[in-house]
Amino acid sequence: MYRPTALYIVASTTEIPTTMPLNSRRTFLKTSTLAASALALRGSGALASNIVQSTQADAHIELLPAEPIGTISPEIYSHFIEHLGGVIYDGVYVGEKSKIANTAGIRNSFLDMMRAIKAPVLRWPGGCFADSYDWHDGIGPRDKRPARAGFWDQQDSNQYGLHDFMRTCKLIGCKPYLAANLRTQPARDFYQEIEYANAPSGNLPSNSAAPAMPNAQALLRAANGDKEPFNVDLWGVGNESWGCGGNMTPEEYAAEYRRFTAWTPSYSKDPLRFVAVGPNGDDTDWTTRLFKALHANPESRKLWGLSIHYYTSGSPTKFAAGDALKFSADEHYDLLTRGSLMDKVITDHWLAMGNTPADDRAKADPTAPRVELVVDERGAWYGKGTELAPGYNLSQQSTMRDALLTGITFDIFQRHADKVAVAAVAQSINCIHSLMLAQEDQFTLTPTFHVFKMYLPHQGAQSIRAEFTAPSLNNPLGNTPSQVGGNSYIGQLPPVKTLAGLSGSASISPTNPKLVTLTVVNPSLDRPLTTEVSLRGASIAFATGTVLVSNDIHDHNTFANPNAVKPTPATLKAPTAGRLFHTFPAASITTLQITLT
Ligand code: AHR
Repeated sequence: MYRPTALYIVASTTEIPTTMPLNSRRTFLKTSTLAASALALRGSGALASNIVQSTQADAHIELLPAEPIGTISPEIYSHFIEHLGGVIYDGVYVGEKSKIANTAGIRNSFLDMMRAIKAPVLRWPGGCFADSYDWHDGIGPRDKRPARAGFWDQQDSNQYGLHDFMRTCKLIGCKPYLAANLRTQPARDFYQEIEYANAPSGNLPSNSAAPAMPNAQALLRAANGDKEPFNVDLWGVGNESWGCGGNMTPEEYAAEYRRFTAWTPSYSKDPLRFVAVGPNGDDTDWTTRLFKALHANPESRKLWGLSIHYYTSGSPTKFAAGDALKFSADEHYDLLTRGSLMDKVITDHWLAMGNTPADDRAKADPTAPRVELVVDERGAWYGKGTELAPGYNLSQQSTMRDALLTGITFDIFQRHADKVAVAAVAQSINCIHSLMLAQEDQFTLTPTFHVFKMYLPHQGAQSIRAEFTAPSLNNPLGNTPSQVGGNSYIGQLPPVKTLAGLSGSASISPTNPKLVTLTVVNPSLDRPLTTEVSLRGASIAFATGTVLVSNDIHDHNTFANPNAVKPTPATLKAPTAGRLFHTFPAASITTLQITLT
């Protein structure tokens, strides 16, 4: 959380024109900081030690190991794939007979890279696609599967179905997260899908006077190749029901949600994790009314999580617009500023769900019922222009700007480790904010992939409070409220004029209390920040690091040049008196692994 100290009051509240030439901007910053120092010196002799620091550093990061926020759920590093454009065919599934290296028809490079980032959860089959999808169509012999009209004006061949998805998860080593069709199928199909996925094989006790016998759905599953149950515990009950999922009001959706979840078969002592459709962006009206309507019937207690979708458009005024590759410095700052509003979306919804700020940290009563936040769609969404090819609907290029947004977003989730349980990027391959791009035998990782990898040490670690002090950046385009998108959200996000000059998060390793991971994003296009990193009550023995930075913010990887943007080791100086002085390059993401004495 950015809280300026006295030293930085002038610099952090003064708008720094981002269009200023580099040299003038540096002079401006120096002057502002010096002016602030002079003011502080005149005002208080007690600040003299801070002045000494300011001669060595442009910014400060103080880590507070004694102030834990919560365990960082590995599931905030989750993924989403949908039958949309080139995501499933040919991003994930190329078919067994393809010349592209595959395992059971699934692209090997996709599997390898998902394993490399320890993807914990994969969501499927949509998205909007889920609410017109019949899971029966994708089971059984491939040559018997029907081709059907599906969302996104597509015809789906159903060659990739439930068993293929489960195999994908198994090969990656991740958990499945299924989105159920609430718009075009009855509750019966939902609970039979649970039966099909989770009923054990063999004779099942009847729990009645009748004899034990096999479950018919389990027999069907076995006949289709999987005797053992899939044990799916995470279920989305519909998707965007305020929009493509049915154009419902919160009250209408609450009634559907209650009906779908009033009874479902159970094969585990742990209840299934049902996720209700939440807001579009910062629409707290949806959430407040949904919770009121859900609780109108005290019997409805089967809510584990609330889904939030928050996309950041490439344009300040229009949803899903702007260019992925061609953007100005002003547009860069504007996108990152609006992306940073994820923080507001989380805290606003935490309160709208009936929590209080006091619930933020260690819960007074950890057994009290709570609803988790599941940010299962997010990312930067641009307009048309950089698609891989016709048919690859919503595929877009990803630059260093998208990598910076990825880092900023993960750091926000980690600073809210006590609230966000699951988060999924939209989408893993060939769609919106992708980690991978693939077209036939061509494949590349995007800069966003590298951020996922660099943030790995945070998975399952203890998030701790980290105070960042740096001059803010000006967002010249933050003049009008921004549209979040969707067709039922009439609210807007407020215009914001400033972007944190440096942001990040910190965590303590679950296996080594002396190992701290600090991730830092410097979003400035031209201002490296020499930063003093210290820990309250502890000293730094040494640190190692990795940095993702490029010559130009527009840099990106292509099939022809897949290594244009990739991480490199960070050059670090030895600590001074238990503190680290490190220069975070302009437009960079850095992971520091800090070992304490
Ligand atoms: O990710 C693309 C689409 O965005 C999803 O299908 C939908 O849920 C959202 O509107």
